Amino acid sequence: MSAPDLQPIGVFDSGVGGLSVLREIRARLPAESLLYCADSGYAPYGERPIEEISARSLELGAFLLARNAKALVVACNTATAAGVKAMREAWPDLPVIGMEPAVKPATAATQSGTVGVLATVGTLASAKFAALLDSFGQDVRVVTQPGVGLVELVEHGELDTPTARDLLQVHLAPLLAAGADVIVLGCTHYVFLRPAIEAIVGPAVKVIDTGAAVARQLERRLCASRLLADGTQPPRVTQFWCSGDTRQVGAVIDRLWGAAGAPHPLPPSHSFRSRSVLKEALP
Ligand code: DGL
Repeated sequence: MSAPDLQPIGVFDSGVGGLSVLREIRARLPAESLLYCADSGYAPYGERPIEEISARSLELGAFLLARNAKALVVACNTATAAGVKAMREAWPDLPVIGMEPAVKPATAATQSGTVGVLATVGTLASAKFAALLDSFGQDVRVVTQPGVGLVELVEHGELDTPTARDLLQVHLAPLLAAGADVIVLGCTHYVFLRPAIEAIVGPAVKVIDTGAAVARQLERRLCASRLLADGTQPPRVTQFWCSGDTRQVGAVIDRLWGAAGAPHPLPPSHSFRSRSVLKEALP
């Protein structure tokens, strides 16, 4: 086994969205090796039962720990809301970094007094998000909008197509009509739609996300645990795994990350019911 500081950092998301966090980590911690799991075969997580997302988060965490990860980053707001507590209970000595919509900085930045949050149904319905609003949403108006369909767009590499722009228009209109001058991207996938979003909302509206803050928090935790790579050892690597169609997901990873080579296949989930069973169970 390698020295702890040479072990990789494990990162996962319901798909390719967490690459927006991975790139912040890569920029901040260039000496670290990174393992990334894109659970695209089961995306989107946002409308799935909390218990299933939590169980899948434990599966993916265990998968990354079996590959010697020294820390885990849940690069998914939805999986953090559903599963980070169970992960911290399962691995109490491990740095497990989660993420949440940037409501706190948004409330500090707004001039109009209205903040918009675009996130998945799962994140917006979570107890964690309710607690976030209780802590930071008291002095401003927070208007929320579920970004139904947006994760699927990014999973298909549709970042700035007419379809993407039309759907964004639909989701952003209520936030703009409410007077929001700061819009929080509360889903890591949405960060890849930022140019299209900014074109719709215009320069007077600030668009913010949490990726850079997560990378800083990861650095602090690794530093406190004396796990930071010092950069004097052999060059770092970045490795990818995915569920679903390896070739299709690989093509999107190449587009969003740069040539990464074909991702390795993830073992199938024991936590999620199949999509067809899920559809039957939905109202
Ligand atoms: N990237 C995930 C997030 O930040 C998307 C969740 C989903 O698949 O619905 O919430």
